[in-house]
Amino acid sequence: MAGASDAVSEFDTAIPNAARMYDYWLGGKDNFAADRDAAERSAHAVPQLPWLARENRRFLGRAVRCCASAGVTQFLDIGTGLPTMNSVHQVAERVTASPHVVYVDNDPVVVSHARALLSTPRTVAVHGDLTRPDELLSDPDVRAVIDFSKPVAILLVAVLHFVPDEADPVGCVAKLRDAMAPGSHLVISHVELSPGQVVGARPATGTARELGEARRGMPPARARTRGEVGAFFGDMTLLDPGLTDVWAWRPEDDSVTTASDFMTVIGGVARKD
Ligand SMILES: C[S@@+](CC[C@H](N)C(=O)[O-])C[C@H]1O[C@@H](n2cnc3c(N)ncnc32)[C@H](O)[C@@H]1O
Repeated sequence: MAGASDAVSEFDTAIPNAARMYDYWLGGKDNFAADRDAAERSAHAVPQLPWLARENRRFLGRAVRCCASAGVTQFLDIGTGLPTMNSVHQVAERVTASPHVVYVDNDPVVVSHARALLSTPRTVAVHGDLTRPDELLSDPDVRAVIDFSKPVAILLVAVLHFVPDEADPVGCVAKLRDAMAPGSHLVISHVELSPGQVVGARPATGTARELGEARRGMPPARARTRGEVGAFFGDMTLLDPGLTDVWAWRPEDDSVTTASDFMTVIGGVARKD
């Protein structure tokens, strides 16, 4: 699999990038003017976007704690994003003594940042792609840290909506599920649009058009319905409360919800029996 440095030349700060826009909404510093501009224009269309990003990140933390509390000590985080507070290894370490964590992202800048943060042989960052699960599962760096004969938590948090149907996300996730030992957990969150916002891939409302304009030049995102997202879990057992709005998944406080009537982010955790 390509090393992070192989693709750094593809990095163009003039083109907005999903990881860096998300970083901006989370209050991070790893973003450029084009990212901030696209993030602000997107948030003009959907004011709840920064809040949804934060709630998605909080869901990730609670989901990791859930997996670690169930005895899982290995984590494969695909679509890691730029490091913010509460990275997977930091959250898992609070529950389990020596978690093994592999961070995977197809953005070489994300991988470089993740590598700079990591200092243990139990935690590595790999440049890889969710749409190439065979490469990912056989990658020597991944296998040096994760033993797939033991339970693993695979995290696909806010990443699958960047995978178009043509790349067969259903088949890719099925390959990951097949590689998981009993006792493993799958964590997914995904954007869901309210009905009528798009027709096929075409925006059907003013908000959808404005958001499309703000994201111009970026790869298209593919929102999916709750049924489509649920299908990614295959025959795994969804843990309570099932697939819900991310802020409603085992909330730890009763912070006020400011949901958007345009979109939400839904998430869930399932166990392989
Ligand atoms: C919105 S961020 C989510 C970060 C983190 N998972 C979270 O939820 O806080 C999405 C990340 O997925 C990465 N990504 C997008 N498509 C990917 C793919 N096909 N394979 C691996 N990573 C991908 C992007 O580079 C970005 O860093």
